[in-house]
Amino acid sequence: MTGMVTGKVALVTGAGSGIGRKSAELLAREGARLLVCDRDSDAAEATVQEIQASGGEAEALQVDVSDEGQVSAMVRHCVSRLGRLDCAVNNAGIAGPTGTLETVSLEDWNRVQAVNLTGVFLCMKYEIAEMLEAGGGAIVNMSSGAGLIATPGLSSYSASKHGVLGLTRTAAVENARRGIRINAICPGSIDTPMLRKAMEADPATARFIEGACPSDAWGRPKKSPKPWSGSARTELPWSPDTPWASTAVRWLARAHSPSVGSSNS
Ligand SMILES: NC(=O)c1ccc[n+]([C@@H]2O[C@H](COP(=O)([O-])OP(=O)(O)OC[C@H]3O[C@@H](n4cnc5c(N)ncnc54)[C@H](O)[C@@H]3O)[C@@H](O)[C@H]2O)c1
Repeated sequence: MTGMVTGKVALVTGAGSGIGRKSAELLAREGARLLVCDRDSDAAEATVQEIQASGGEAEALQVDVSDEGQVSAMVRHCVSRLGRLDCAVNNAGIAGPTGTLETVSLEDWNRVQAVNLTGVFLCMKYEIAEMLEAGGGAIVNMSSGAGLIATPGLSSYSASKHGVLGLTRTAAVENARRGIRINAICPGSIDTPMLRKAMEADPATARFIEGACPSDAWGRPKKSPKPWSGSARTELPWSPDTPWASTAVRWLARAHSPSVGSSNS
């Protein structure tokens, strides 16, 4: 480990299981003090125990990311208990209903958007406000391969993850000159309780997920956090090393270049 976030304070949502738990553990091993957030308080506490057993510093907080009052309290709690907020991983998510679109109830659709999309919006809303006041930070949102391509049998989920990318791109551009780096990760199939539950719920969805996996093995959460561990480094400048950031660079170039602007008018 390189200690790339030594002295920083990080919060991770959905950190009681799967990718979120391993992300929190990795950030702790890299030197950050952690606020481990999950709607399941026992699961969050179990992650904290793991981190503390390895010599890291963490505390648990029960948070439902779809509830604005709880999200705003989460950021306040982080600052009052841990002194600051440098890095946030907005990871909490649910798979939601499986089956073709016409079978999805409005209630199920709304719940998936509330957790996966509104949850990321609410977290960024309060995290960005705090980071602006403190002078900077880094945010990583958990999208999905389903945010980039069609995902038959998971329309609500896929739509929410496409939304996370739109939100991330926009927030990245809004904050590129304000000291906050914002990125998103799009994992493929990672062997977690969420993936297994979605596959068990619907054979057609299971066949699609199996067929879409290019190798004969899914990813494992302990490997998955690596791509973003560098993104959590607050001292790095915002850089065009990701597709959405490249889009942002082009967009910024247009917005700040009168000649490009006038040629389009
Ligand atoms: N597993 C995969 O194949 C895969 C692939 C791409 C993206 N993802 C994304 O990664 C993230 C983590 O997924 P995972 O596979 O580790 O799932 P998981 O079910 O193992 O963990 C999700 C965690 O989020 C928590 N959570 C759910 N709703 C919440 C809410 N409203 N507020 C706070 N916490 C809540 C759960 O209690 C759980 O601890 C999700 O956003 C998911 O969409 C997963």
